[in-house]
Amino acid sequence: MAYGDGFAAPEALDERGLERIQGDFVATSARAARAGFDTVEIHAAHGYLLHQFLSPLANRRTDDYGGGLANRMRFPLAVFAAVRDAWPADKPLGVRISAVDGIDGGWSMDDSVAFAKRLRELGCDFIDVSSGGIVAEAALPRGPGYQVDLAAELKAAVAVPVIADGGITEPLQAETIVRSGQADLVALARQMLKEPRWPWRAAAELGASAAGPPPHVVGFEGVRAEWGGGPDAAEPD
Ligand SMILES: Cc1cc2nc3c(=O)[nH]c(=O)nc-3n(C[C@H](O)[C@H](O)[C@H](O)COP(=O)(O)O)c2cc1C
Repeated sequence: MAYGDGFAAPEALDERGLERIQGDFVATSARAARAGFDTVEIHAAHGYLLHQFLSPLANRRTDDYGGGLANRMRFPLAVFAAVRDAWPADKPLGVRISAVDGIDGGWSMDDSVAFAKRLRELGCDFIDVSSGGIVAEAALPRGPGYQVDLAAELKAAVAVPVIADGGITEPLQAETIVRSGQADLVALARQMLKEPRWPWRAAAELGASAAGPPPHVVGFEGVRAEWGGGPDAAEPD
């Protein structure tokens, strides 16, 4: 189905198409490992393909990949398992989900809990909790920390580390989310676009330090207190 008016309607994948796409996920993660990335997060949120399989709003299939929850989870879980096999066992592998579709009859928190439990059994290290993206008319709240409650709810129901994001802009806000146990990690998107040196500011405000390449550190030695923080020397990987 189309995302909304004016959007193209996708075609259902056949068995060969499913195999091809699963193979593409595996090949991508193998390339990421070769390139030295530390973490891979499989995108199963925001209306992208794996989310389209999960959500009853988008998934109208009548084969083994559509219908009940177990069938709708089948392809995303198969992709995860195949990537887990290909991605180094000692490196974290997570999944980004839309915890709720935000519309009646859509993917729900109960579904997310079931999905996260299955992912955990397959060796998933973390869930990055987002929301929405499957239909244009979804009603989801927006504002400071607008998805933190979803992350906390999932974490309370499933023993899995979670990432919270959405409207996290201030160091103390981020620290509070982690310290209060609502989430294990936080992620920032728009604030990092607006303020790319946010980690240095956060380090200064929270009395910590953040790593930077050696040229950024020259001149900071001995003036750390006056500058209120600044990068620590770290060789770029
Ligand atoms: C310009 C832009 C591009 C984005 N692209 C992606 C993307 O490719 N994949 C994704 O999972 N989220 C994407 N997002 C969503 C962000 O990851 C994040 O969930 C969202 O912006 C809320 O966090 P924030 O309030 O810190 O920006 C994008 C957001 C912005 C603003």
